[in-house]
Formats: sequence, C-alpha cells, structure tokens
Amino acid sequence: MNTTPIGNADPPSKSSLVGRTYLSVLDLTAEALEACLTLALRLKRERRLGSHAPTAQALAGHSMALLFDKPSLRTRTGFEIAMRELGGHVTCPPSADALGTRETLADVARTLERWVSVAAIRTFEQSRLNEFVKATTHLRVINALTNEEHPCQALADCLTVLERCGSLRGRTLAYIGDGNNVATSLTHAALMLGLNLRLASPEGYGLPESTLAAARRTARHGAKVVQLRDPVEAAQGVDAVYTDAWTSMGQETEAPDRRVAFEGFRITETLLSEADDEAIFMHCLPAHRGEEVDADVLDGPRSAVFDQAENRLHTQKALLLTLLDEK
Ligand code: CP
Ligand code: NVA
Repeated sequence: MNTTPIGNADPPSKSSLVGRTYLSVLDLTAEALEACLTLALRLKRERRLGSHAPTAQALAGHSMALLFDKPSLRTRTGFEIAMRELGGHVTCPPSADALGTRETLADVARTLERWVSVAAIRTFEQSRLNEFVKATTHLRVINALTNEEHPCQALADCLTVLERCGSLRGRTLAYIGDGNNVATSLTHAALMLGLNLRLASPEGYGLPESTLAAARRTARHGAKVVQLRDPVEAAQGVDAVYTDAWTSMGQETEAPDRRVAFEGFRITETLLSEADDEAIFMHCLPAHRGEEVDADVLDGPRSAVFDQAENRLHTQKALLLTLLDEK
C-alpha cells in the first residue's frame, strides 16, 4: 500500500488531473464506476473490523478540505467519517472564507493544494467547480452537489438498488419529480450501469434533452431512458420509485409555484401500488412529508431511504480510495 502524502508531493503535470476529479458521474468510465461500487460493498462488509479493517490506515497522511456553500448532513458528515475511518484528516474552512468574495476561487485552490490531497465542494453553479479545478495541478476535486449535478448521491443510489433489487442490469427505476441535480446524476450512473430509467416531471421541469443525450452516449447493456409526463405511466411495474424535493436549495422563492406545478406528482401508496409488488421507494433526503412524498410511504416497509443514507458513507469511502489510488 502506498501511503505517500499526496498533498505535499511534487506537483505533477496538469495532464495528470485527468481521472482525478469527480465533478460528474461522467468523469468515471463505466468500468471505474462498477469497480467503485464493488469496492464500496467490500468496505461496507469490512467496516465491522474497525481499526483492523485493511483500509483503516489507507489514507494516513492525507487531508481533505470540505468547502460547503449550502447546508448538508449526509454528504459532509459522510466525508468526515469516511476520512477518519481511512486514517486521514478533514478540515472545514468556513464557506465565507473559502468560497466567498475574500479572494478568487483559483487562489483558494492554489493554497489548498499545498496542504491537502482532496477537496469536496458544495456550491451553486457547476462552472465554479470547473474554475477551481482549472487552477490546480494535482488536487483531487469532488462535486459534493451543485445546482446541476449530485454525483456522490448517485453512487449510493445505485449501490442501494443493487443491494435491494439484487442487480442493476435490466431493472427499471421511475424517477418522479423535479428534473434536478439528483435526477441528472442518477440518469448518468443508471445508464452506464445498465439500469433503465423512466423520468416523469411536469412540463417545464424535466431534464434537458442535452442531459439525456449525454447519458445515452454512455449507456451500456441496452439501458434506456424515457421522459414522460404521467407519474402513473412511469411507475407501472418498475423495481424502484424515486423522488426528491420539489424545491432545491437556492430555489426557495419558487416554492409556491412549484407546489402548484408538481401537484399530482406526490408519491402516495396508491401511486407506489402501480410499481412491482417488491418495488422499493427511494429519496436522497432531506424529505418533505406531505409534499413530494406521503409519510406512510417514506416511513413504510418499502422505503430504502436510510439504506441510501448509510450507503453515502461506504460509497464516499470507495470514491476517496479510487481518486487517491489507494485501493
Ligand atoms: N442527500 C444529501 O446530499 O444530503 P445532504 O444535503 O444532507 O448532504
Ligand atoms: N435537489 C436537492 C438535493 C438535496 C440533497 C437540492 O439540491 O437541494
């Protein structure tokens, strides 16, 4: 096992950044994505070994910076625990200092790369991540959620479908709700892994055609994505029904209009009964009972939402080991 602290190593050339960012699921090849999930399953099994787990010191000497412009429980705490369980350290500079107007994002990146191996950033526009990455030569950068994508969530979602449904290939998931960051990353990952997707959103709230086209270009094992307007049609016979908040962080002023637009898209027991008898219910959390999902679904026996939340830890550990090449 190589335990060289990358944060202090000689800066490699710019080209070595290829494969060192996870700004989008599309940054990984399908093989790397599958390997990451396989590793996450192993890490999940080995977690009970605690400090005797083979990876307990895998990231010794590595530090990670968490730069968050928006609130977070699962993503932030998941990375904190992940780094601790892999023998590394975490620093969380206040977002006003690191992502504010005090200095350019490029200068923050160039400073941090002298100290840490990896940064996870939760912010607004995806373009801010690109700006950060462009300024560094060797820092690994992870998208911890932007307006456009949430690729860390997609890893946990796919692992949960794999565990709960027994496979991904040939299964079908209905995502019913807003065509948002979570839907985008889920679509990317699902198609690469052979999981069919039915998306159902109100007019004007679906995924852009360009997102679907990009996902279709990387589809494998015959996986298909279709975009529908009717939640009932989307749910019929599927293996999993997924929804997310109707109003994402940063869209709070649109909430009243969105409540009107999404009427009829709430996941109820009646809608879930359209799916396969064994179908699971999924949500990235945080959830709004009585809005995008009824409480009896979210808290019911088919709900996999806390498996998804747990799997954020195992998949984020696998992602860190993958990006830092310490498997
Ligand atoms: N699902 C998710 O990303 O949760 P947090 O916003 O709590 O990180
Ligand atoms: N779509 C939601 C996801 C939260 C984890 C948001 O961006 O707020």
